[in-house]
Amino acid sequence: MTVAAFPTPADLEITPRDRRFGRGAPTPRLWHGGRVEATAIYNALSTTFPAGEAFFVDSVRAFRAGAPPKLAEEIKAFTTQEAIHSREHDAFNRRAADAGYDLARLEQRVNERLAIARSRPKIASLAATMALEHFTAILAHQLLADPRHLAGADRDAADLWRWHAAEEIEHKGVAYDTWLHATRDWSRWKRWKVKAQVMLIMTEHFLVDRTAGALDLMRQDGVAGLRAWTALLTYLWVRPGMFRKIAGAWFKFFLPRFHPWNEDDRQLLRDYEASAPAAEAGKRKVRHAA
Ligand SMILES: [Fe+2]
Ligand SMILES: [Fe+2]
Repeated sequence: MTVAAFPTPADLEITPRDRRFGRGAPTPRLWHGGRVEATAIYNALSTTFPAGEAFFVDSVRAFRAGAPPKLAEEIKAFTTQEAIHSREHDAFNRRAADAGYDLARLEQRVNERLAIARSRPKIASLAATMALEHFTAILAHQLLADPRHLAGADRDAADLWRWHAAEEIEHKGVAYDTWLHATRDWSRWKRWKVKAQVMLIMTEHFLVDRTAGALDLMRQDGVAGLRAWTALLTYLWVRPGMFRKIAGAWFKFFLPRFHPWNEDDRQLLRDYEASAPAAEAGKRKVRHAA
């Protein structure tokens, strides 16, 4: 089958914002409002980004040749955005290490998962990326939509997370459109079956690995056992309840006519731009990595 058009908005512009965060002063160890579990889950997430987003870029770029011109351009902008995200989270992770955290076990887990993924066919890597980009986009949406998620956080750190979230929303359709293009000759059933299976596997890995990573970091702050589990699960699932709040958007992925841009949440981007630090500087053109 062929895809006539992608539901990605025709006037969407993916604009890499080459910003740097937190270079001036050390980040406090418990940068998220002094809270062990909040700091731990965001640090655990950040640990995945430098290597994980490099994998996303490789997976998508492998299918750029032969893509329609608009999609090829979007892949280029996606690549630039993700490369800058990797750089900023690498710097953020180094500051967490400077504050005394040992991230080695968390990074090792990410590298193990990625080594397996890289040993599989390129279309499987693209499917994994497409699923994880949906995950990232719905987390990003929630992060920007509800200020409670970053309430009390260190300013530079919160700025980094909001900037990353905005760009994840902006490029949320790229991996998906690349997937639609790469599988244009597949039957609808085969496409759905593969994407549903991959999403279920990625979700399990995500929940298990990030929970284990956060508990590891909490242990390094002296919080362990039942106390740690209770604090972390309450934070993720009850209050502010990020994982509970993205459950509906996660489920939509399995609907037959799903596309990330079925929900046009560009108002969050406009709100971000209106309130972001150095918003003007971010509008300047940046070198494209692709
Ligand atoms: Fe990213
Ligand atoms: Fe992304």
